[in-house]
Amino acid sequence: NSVFQGRSILSETSMTPAEMEYLIDFGLHLKFMQKHNIPHRYLEGKNIALLFEKASTRTRSSFVTAAVELGAHPDYLGKDDIHLGKKESVEDTAKILGSMFDGIEFRGFKQETVDGLAKYSGVPVWNGLTDEWHPTQTIPDLMTMKENFGYLKGLTLTYIGDGRNNVANSLLVGGSMVGVNVHIVTPKALYPSEKHVSIAKEYATKSGAQIMVTDNIDEGVKGSNAIYTDVWVSMGESDWEERVKLLKPYQVNMDLMRKTGTPDDQLIFMHCLPAFHDTKTSYGQDVYEKYGISEMEVTDEVFRSKYSRVFEEGENRKHGIKAIMAATLGNLFIPSV
Ligand code: CP
Ligand code: NVA
Repeated sequence: NSVFQGRSILSETSMTPAEMEYLIDFGLHLKFMQKHNIPHRYLEGKNIALLFEKASTRTRSSFVTAAVELGAHPDYLGKDDIHLGKKESVEDTAKILGSMFDGIEFRGFKQETVDGLAKYSGVPVWNGLTDEWHPTQTIPDLMTMKENFGYLKGLTLTYIGDGRNNVANSLLVGGSMVGVNVHIVTPKALYPSEKHVSIAKEYATKSGAQIMVTDNIDEGVKGSNAIYTDVWVSMGESDWEERVKLLKPYQVNMDLMRKTGTPDDQLIFMHCLPAFHDTKTSYGQDVYEKYGISEMEVTDEVFRSKYSRVFEEGENRKHGIKAIMAATLGNLFIPSV
């Protein structure tokens, strides 16, 4: 049996740093296999439940297409399709789903829900985003960096924006595990929690990563290889007014990219998506009218620039998620890592 067999991925801390590195490489390997039509049906005959309390384009599509290409059958269970959170507890739901499905993905509001599903279902559970963590984003993001630079250790990843959200927590901890220096650049009011910073610092001591949390943009972005941002208001939040005011100076624009001082071929722009880069169009119209800004966390110019790797990142969600599912549930041997 592989060391991953039967394991749940609930946050970055569900893995050792060596295991995370393994999944990054395995994801890139599976991408190669898919591009070259090499069969990799490690989940032949398995059934996968996909639970979504929140909307999703990439995560849902990744789990569905990855599951099918691995030979499994995915079933989408949206928040209005099942009783969870209304008529039925996490424990009872988990016991039933675990008796019928071989693996469960959960995206939703609370980390305790995904933790509970793992505790009571008896099958591997994968966190597809909660209020606290987004580990199925981190592995594909690190794959994207490795693909781009050829290595990870010693690179500097600067996350700028809401320093307390799921993506910030996951990058802070995930990067520090594999020796990527992580800078979190955010106003003091949005500094990451003591808990997440101390988890990251502990990993960093072993990996050699440097961790910086600062509200000083010039200092924070200097020497970055990747500038990463995310929405200013996450799903389930609504404090637009305060966030726009706080984060306007932290917008990723060409001026900020230049402040890194990094040579062009050593600098990329990343975003987990979806992004507010052109709020004048359709979905952002209300924001544009209310706050008078046509771009939010990233300008359209940077989003579409030569630095941007956002669509590569999006595609890598599928390959990384495939690695996570295949390793924890697959009929394959993975030596101890
Ligand atoms: N990045 C990400 O999780 O995207 P979706 O919300 O579209 O799944
Ligand atoms: N922080 C964002 C990430 C979306 C993929 C959110 O939670 O809405």
